[in-house]
Amino acid sequence: MPPAMLGLTFLGLVAALGIRPGAPLCLSQQLSLPGDYILGGLFPLGSADDTGLGDRTQPNATVCTRLSAPGLLWALAVMMAVEEINNASTLLPGLRLGYDLFDTCSEPVVAMKPSLVFMAKAGSRSIGAYCDYTQYQPRVLAVIGPHSSEVALVTGKFFSFFLMPQVSYGATTDRLSNRETFPSFFRTVPSDRVQAIAMVELLRGLHWNWVAAVGSDDEYGRQGLGLFSSLANAKGICIAYEGLMPLPRAGGMRLGSVQSLLHQVNHSSVQVGVFFPPPKAPYSLFSYSIHYRLSPKVWVASEAWLTSSLVMTLPGMDRVGTVLGFLHQGAEMPEFRSYVQTRLARAAEPAYCASLEAGRLGLEEHVVGPRCPQCDRASPENVTDGLLYHQTFAAYAAVYSVAHALHKALLCNSSGCLAQEPVRPWQLLDNMYNMSFHAYNRTLQFDTSGNVDLAYDLKLWVWRDRMPMLRTVGSFNGSLELQFSSMIWHTPGNQEPVSQCSRQCREGQVRRVKGFHSCCYDCVDCKAGSYQRHPGEPSGTASCMGQQLLLHLPLTGCLSTLFLLAAEIFVGSELPPSWTDWLHSCLRGPWAWLVVLLAMLAEAALCSWYLAVFPPVVVTNWHALPTEALVHCRVSSWIMFGVVHATNAMLAFLCFLGTFLVQSRPGHYNSARGLTFAMLAYFITWVSYIPLFANVHVVSHPPVQMGTILFCVLGILTTFHLPKCYLLLWRPDLNTPEFFLGGGPSDARGQGGSGHGEETQGKNK
Ligand SMILES: *[C@@H]1O[C@H](CO)[C@@H](O)[C@H](O)[C@H]1NC(C)=O
Ligand SMILES: *[C@@H]1O[C@H](CO)[C@@H](O)[C@H](O)[C@H]1NC(C)=O
Ligand SMILES: *[C@@H]1O[C@H](CO)[C@@H](O)[C@H](O)[C@H]1NC(C)=O
Ligand SMILES: *[C@@H]1O[C@H](CO)[C@@H](O)[C@H](O)[C@H]1NC(C)=O
Ligand SMILES: *[C@@H]1O[C@H](CO)[C@@H](O)[C@H](O)[C@H]1NC(C)=O
Ligand SMILES: *[C@@H]1O[C@H](CO)[C@@H](O)[C@H](O)[C@H]1NC(C)=O
Ligand SMILES: *[C@@H]1O[C@H](CO)[C@@H](O)[C@H](O)[C@H]1NC(C)=O
Ligand SMILES: *[C@@H]1O[C@H](CO)[C@@H](O)[C@H](O)[C@H]1NC(C)=O
Repeated sequence: MPPAMLGLTFLGLVAALGIRPGAPLCLSQQLSLPGDYILGGLFPLGSADDTGLGDRTQPNATVCTRLSAPGLLWALAVMMAVEEINNASTLLPGLRLGYDLFDTCSEPVVAMKPSLVFMAKAGSRSIGAYCDYTQYQPRVLAVIGPHSSEVALVTGKFFSFFLMPQVSYGATTDRLSNRETFPSFFRTVPSDRVQAIAMVELLRGLHWNWVAAVGSDDEYGRQGLGLFSSLANAKGICIAYEGLMPLPRAGGMRLGSVQSLLHQVNHSSVQVGVFFPPPKAPYSLFSYSIHYRLSPKVWVASEAWLTSSLVMTLPGMDRVGTVLGFLHQGAEMPEFRSYVQTRLARAAEPAYCASLEAGRLGLEEHVVGPRCPQCDRASPENVTDGLLYHQTFAAYAAVYSVAHALHKALLCNSSGCLAQEPVRPWQLLDNMYNMSFHAYNRTLQFDTSGNVDLAYDLKLWVWRDRMPMLRTVGSFNGSLELQFSSMIWHTPGNQEPVSQCSRQCREGQVRRVKGFHSCCYDCVDCKAGSYQRHPGEPSGTASCMGQQLLLHLPLTGCLSTLFLLAAEIFVGSELPPSWTDWLHSCLRGPWAWLVVLLAMLAEAALCSWYLAVFPPVVVTNWHALPTEALVHCRVSSWIMFGVVHATNAMLAFLCFLGTFLVQSRPGHYNSARGLTFAMLAYFITWVSYIPLFANVHVVSHPPVQMGTILFCVLGILTTFHLPKCYLLLWRPDLNTPEFFLGGGPSDARGQGGSGHGEETQGKNK
């Protein structure tokens, strides 16, 4: 609901209830509720005005005058959770939770007093000094809050001494994850470490490696900046400028060294600033930036100021550039809005306020002073304006975590509780370590450091009518997902900003780092003779293995058919005619193919055995060539390499034997001669391969091998097939059965189709 509509709804409500707008609200009195177990609460309900709290000379009361609406909303979320638990009576059957909420003003000085009140003995306002606090029953069972890390570091140590459980809904500094220092600290938000990791991933995702980083000079800023710097450096992101900014206190704006940093960044190629402050500090920084008209940049916001209305409403804020940052995902709680409105409406009812006044004891009033005078002076709009970006789920869930631990400590089921003894605060801790609990419709779990694991949304400020709206443009849950199409940049033409010290080098260039940062470099061409180790380098093993099979199997196929031909010629010319009929039928037709198949199988078996037992290895030779590396196959055993040739050599030899004695008949084609020469070509090429291979440079080994294979094949082609082609093309007059049926004496007797069959077989190869 946009703020305007919210306002209208509210005015409607106000009119219906007959409230005079601007009338005092009795919210202070509603900050406590009696019950069987009381939860203490620390909320930033106010903020110190410009005079600040810095110059205290007496330990007297401190007063915060300005209302901090988000703090009041967090307090209201706690009230709603307690009311729900009391209403439902399944989590703590037969028991009522109460609360006691105080203002911290975001100052440790202010938070100290309520902390003492919480630890006071039940029913009194004093803390005694004892040997042993095991039986000690303080006023409250557990503490919800505080919101700021700075305050939590102080109260966390104080409560840890008593082992009083404390569940913060906003203190994110990573130091609080230390179980030894803060044994009773838990939180319903993730630690800043997760946010810093998400930010680094964002910079990487957008290829920004040249950035400025600013933190506030307090625990939150120093810790956040330190974490971010170390994570960024580890991922190759360079921080060009880094500065700590003093917190704004009395005297207004103080930027310290950050002032000159801003001017340096303005004149540099840095386009991205990462900023880790509590909500008050960005106000000064951006006021300065707007005043001096510094050029717009991309600002990566920490969660603490991404939704700060103080910064969002700063006049001219739309000129500082693009603002984006991570916000942890809570659960949407649609009921919360109406709860707040009901609560505020009731606080404006004089009759209701009078009834609260009557029921009070009046004790706290002069112990702690008025709880929240600024809340009582606020108008309902002051509170509801903050509802748009409220992050109240964490405060709500904190109550459920304590209630759940109490449920377990009291051994409750949904209808009753077993334990009779009242539970002491430290007895909850055992249940809270590693506890998983339900809040709203989500299940959360405390990890070993007391943090919960929540995913983040990446939010971008989109300007509408001088007020930014938050648009979700990505998410982070261990890994980053970006929605580039939803992003809007401040640059002309909505170009994605580039924040790099130097551009990527081209292929064949190397970086020469200039100065201190690894992100700033010149690109220089690689020296001659050097090489760039490139990544998919040919993977040779498969082709090394394939070589042998591809060479030998087809050759075996070819030679075995030639062998059949040679055998037929031999049978026809050398054996007595009584044998020939029978043998001829064997050497043609299906039986002949069986011979081819057997030869191929024998060769395949031989190859497989060779590849399995003596696999050729791929070696990279860096020295053979001046500018390139030679990747080649090295034969493991030359003897075995020779053995693989045995089948083929045997076939060729038999072929040769069967044909070289056959007489030629004048006037007829002699196919026996062609075969003899083909086999000679085979032997000559492979025999000459041996001395050639042994004597040439390693670089020439592959060409020699290729040449040998080529010559072997060409030799067979030219000696056996070319003569026939010649006759077919240029001597068609000789293409007669009589001429071709001269292969042997038997053919002369009219073994019809022999020449024809021979030619068919020749073509098959
Ligand atoms: C606390 O004491 C200072 C003087 O030291 C005074 O100015 C201030 O008003 C006092 N604060 C309150 C709340 O009385
Ligand atoms: C608790 O119950 C009362 C009475 O039934 C109801 O008015 C109130 O809205 C309930 N509160 C919540 C937070 O559900
Ligand atoms: C900031 O930088 C812009 C452009 O680089 C320049 O025009 C402007 O004068 C600078 N502002 C200051 C205060 O240096
Ligand atoms: C409430 O808002 C009005 C105007 O929006 C402002 O003048 C007033 O100071 C605010 N009240 C408090 C207590 O902050
Ligand atoms: C709750 O516990 C009591 C006592 O152990 C038992 O009698 C009762 O049946 C339990 N109720 C449920 C709903 O489990
Ligand atoms: C919490 O869980 C972690 C690991 O899952 C385990 O090492 C640790 O002992 C647990 N702590 C408690 C108190 O159970
Ligand atoms: C929780 O409830 C809200 C609305 O009631 C719904 O949008 C959301 O999807 C629910 N989440 C889960 C995890 O069930
Ligand atoms: C985040 O991731 C965890 C596991 O990696 C998963 O259990 C959880 O549901 C995820 N949360 C969201 C909001 O996707």
